[in-house]
Amino acid sequence: MTAADYSDKIPNNVDLHEDRRLQRALESWQPNFLRWWDSMGPTLPTEDVYLRTAVNVGREGWAHFGHVAMRDYRWGIFLADRKHDRRVAFGQHRNEPVWQKVPGEYRSELQRLIVIQGDTEPASVEQQRNLGATAPSLYDLRNLFQVNVEEGRHLWAMVYLLHAYFGRDGREEAEELLHRNSGSEEAPRILGAFNEETPDWLSFFMFTYFTDRDGKYQLGTLKESAFDPLSRTCEFMLKEESHHMFVGTTGIDRVVERTVQLMVEHDTDDVGPHGGIPLTVLQKYLNFHYSVSLDLFGSETSTNVGNYYTSGLKGRWSEERRHDDHTLTNDSVMVDAVTADGEIGQTEVAALVGLNSDLRREYIGDCQNGVNRWNRILDEAGMPQRLRLPHVAFNRKVGAFAGIEATPDGKGLTTEEWERGKGRWLPTDVDKTHVRSLMRPVYERGRIAAWIAPPRQGINGKPFDYDYVHLS
Ligand SMILES: [Fe+2]
Ligand SMILES: [Fe+2]
Repeated sequence: MTAADYSDKIPNNVDLHEDRRLQRALESWQPNFLRWWDSMGPTLPTEDVYLRTAVNVGREGWAHFGHVAMRDYRWGIFLADRKHDRRVAFGQHRNEPVWQKVPGEYRSELQRLIVIQGDTEPASVEQQRNLGATAPSLYDLRNLFQVNVEEGRHLWAMVYLLHAYFGRDGREEAEELLHRNSGSEEAPRILGAFNEETPDWLSFFMFTYFTDRDGKYQLGTLKESAFDPLSRTCEFMLKEESHHMFVGTTGIDRVVERTVQLMVEHDTDDVGPHGGIPLTVLQKYLNFHYSVSLDLFGSETSTNVGNYYTSGLKGRWSEERRHDDHTLTNDSVMVDAVTADGEIGQTEVAALVGLNSDLRREYIGDCQNGVNRWNRILDEAGMPQRLRLPHVAFNRKVGAFAGIEATPDGKGLTTEEWERGKGRWLPTDVDKTHVRSLMRPVYERGRIAAWIAPPRQGINGKPFDYDYVHLS
């Protein structure tokens, strides 16, 4: 049974009506969620938005598209289909049947992993809440809201697990997920990058490219989990997540495209006065979002993560496609480090301890694809400039390089050199003010702001000038 039951107050494909206690618990959390959505969700008043809603978890036709009032969006609980005879793919429980219940000895670790993942979902909605006021087009506005409602659904996905499998502690954690807020002094979100603001659309596209992509990789490790309900939840979330990546990738494509047009048209790199975003500013935003997203992977070495792996709680990216023993007890890897003489280098550690680095490496490779894509746009326009990912040691607050400063090329710097140079590598107040000055809303059908090119295609086969959003 994969189709969602929409007759329930909470749409779901987990037979919620068969477990009255759980159903009641979630139904009493629902108004709190809506209160949170009303007070912390999108601020732009809208009548309705052309949104997709998940209706099925199968391969085909899993989503329904239509205009809906956002507050009436059917946030639901959807798990990917159960795989017959699924077995643990790694760690000490390898080849044992996966778990349908939480083993007592891993209860607190699993709960922690779910809470950390769950905390990021509403955080990004909070970070993006004011962006509707400056959307470059109705198409973009619709994409923003699509991402927002789906992050809301991802919160539901994690809250379901907390309620269904973690008893009272889980219910308390579910409440806390609505009480913490991005950027709050008293109760901030758990991870640093989720307390940064997303004040403009360039930041939004960078966020959906780099930070949502971190989410993709974290979900990828949880999808491997021996705790089957977590695995199935994450598998379905990844499906929705790919649209968020698309928004980021194509958003930056379109900014680069427009910048190049202005460069050609005015025969200058300095397209700022012509209403564009200069490549140098794009590079600085990229540097910022990439480096804070790298922080989300944690330290290069971590015994906790090694233990999660051995216990079967969280695997590697594409675990089943790896050609090794899937226990890693005798393997070693090189990870980034500051060497004994204070240089940026590498060191050899046990593979289990280096698993954060393994995931980060996969992530970096994926990030590079976007950069190549954007550079192709520059190349095809005959521009010599190129965008690039900064060195892993650049602008880090977490891990081996937190205590040092480095250029985007990975050259070590004194604090003084860093202070003098950072305005060349990270967005300055002048850059941010310029970008924000371009952020004026364009709400007419088929029109678009001057700093970004229109998309090549609309959503779900609709044209770009479709009425994606009705404002109120
Ligand atoms: Fe998400
Ligand atoms: Fe996302």
